Amino acid sequence: MARCIVTRALPGDAVARLSREHDVITWDGAEPPTSEELRDLVADADALLSLLSDRVDADLMDASPRLRVVANYAVGYDNIDVAAAEQRGIVVTNTPDILTDATADHAFALLAAVARRIGEGDDYVRRGEWQGWHPLLLLGKPIFGARIGIVGMGRIGRAVAERAKGFGMEVLPYRRGDGPEVLRDLLATSDFITLHCPLTDETRHLIDAAAIETMNDDAILINTARGGLVDLHALASALVAGTVGGAGLDTTDPEPISTDHPILRAPRTIITPHIGSATTHARTAMADMAVDNLLAVLADHEPLNPVTEVLTNPRRT
Ligand code: DGY
Repeated sequence: MARCIVTRALPGDAVARLSREHDVITWDGAEPPTSEELRDLVADADALLSLLSDRVDADLMDASPRLRVVANYAVGYDNIDVAAAEQRGIVVTNTPDILTDATADHAFALLAAVARRIGEGDDYVRRGEWQGWHPLLLLGKPIFGARIGIVGMGRIGRAVAERAKGFGMEVLPYRRGDGPEVLRDLLATSDFITLHCPLTDETRHLIDAAAIETMNDDAILINTARGGLVDLHALASALVAGTVGGAGLDTTDPEPISTDHPILRAPRTIITPHIGSATTHARTAMADMAVDNLLAVLADHEPLNPVTEVLTNPRRT
């Protein structure tokens, strides 16, 4: 029996399934474990089911000599030092595909909500300000036939493109390896810009003050990927100055965003609390996939969704 740490209660019966074969401890604190709490939890663990909010770095790995596998409950894995895991023979896995549609749906929901001022309209009605139909009330931006720039054409970027085609939109893709001029052209000519690339050293603050300046004054930025892709202070200033049309953000940097951050006071902005994959269907499937990966590695089988090159684990006993 291996010792497995799960850092949050998960939907469905995946963790119960894991418990039938292994010793499982599920963190039940109201807040996520601090890095010290996580280190203590994982110190003598063989397996870790981590969330995107858990920092799994070389120090943690060195403090967990038995650790053989980390199954991240997310498709993104920028919270994990993958190179350090590879050096130590620790398998890292993620949860691709099953959250693609949920996240693409959310990106499109944010796009439509910002373009058609859904949040402002809802507030307006609830505040009792609605006096009747008015030709100038809450005028928004057309979606059908507009041009959408998609930064990152992996699974989720392509799924957003599918939805955009249904809205008769012209899709401008930016793929990994495309030069800076392709990004510049996309930023300068798109009505909507949506981010779907991973957060790496190269993509951190991809949308900085200079990139924002390149965008049209009425362009709307959508981010359902990672908060670190956008310089939020620069975005907040541009929204206040009216040099960007609006923003729909499901991710921020940091998370949670502090309540005094200027982005929370910026106009024409909708912010959701990193719920892109938050459908019961997707989150249950993610739990199943993460647990299936742990079970495979603990049974000395190849992982199903590896992100490390470590397919056969030197830490295997
Ligand atoms: C991911 O999987 O990377 C999302 O951000 C959370 O579902």
